[in-house]
Amino acid sequence: MKPDGVARGLIGEIIGRLEDKQLCIVAAELRTIERATAERHYVEHQGQPYYEKLVEFITQGPSLVLVVEGSEDTWQVVRGLMGATNSKEAAPGTIRGDLAIGMRENLVHGSDSAASAQREIEIFFPHLV
Ligand code: TYD
Ligand code: MG
Repeated sequence: MKPDGVARGLIGEIIGRLEDKQLCIVAAELRTIERATAERHYVEHQGQPYYEKLVEFITQGPSLVLVVEGSEDTWQVVRGLMGATNSKEAAPGTIRGDLAIGMRENLVHGSDSAASAQREIEIFFPHLV
């Protein structure tokens, strides 16, 4: 959960949606992500026109970093719950579609493959991998 979600008091709402789907939280940390960590996490976006603002946003205040389990393809289930990247276009019923309207300020991050889930878990919870 990105800093906008934490700042807006949506921790309960968003975790509730994961739990309602029968996913479980297996690790959690409320953490203000440092620039070096954000750069590592968003390495594939380096050079994009939105990159600087993205890093600035993600480091601006506490995020709730989660590891979620519950299915063979949990990353895909979570992506479905999140909705499209551009919240304005995200379907109603999704986290972004119901609760956000921005492109950058879109409340949640979710790994986009099993490989990226492994890479990202290693960044934030190295002892789990
Ligand atoms: P991306 O990985 O494409 O989206 P998602 O979060 O759905 O996996 O992009 C990462 C983040 O970068 C995205 O959540 C918001 C930000 N972003 C922009 O600000 N502008 C853009 O044009 C894009 C593509 C992303
Ligand atoms: Mg992504």
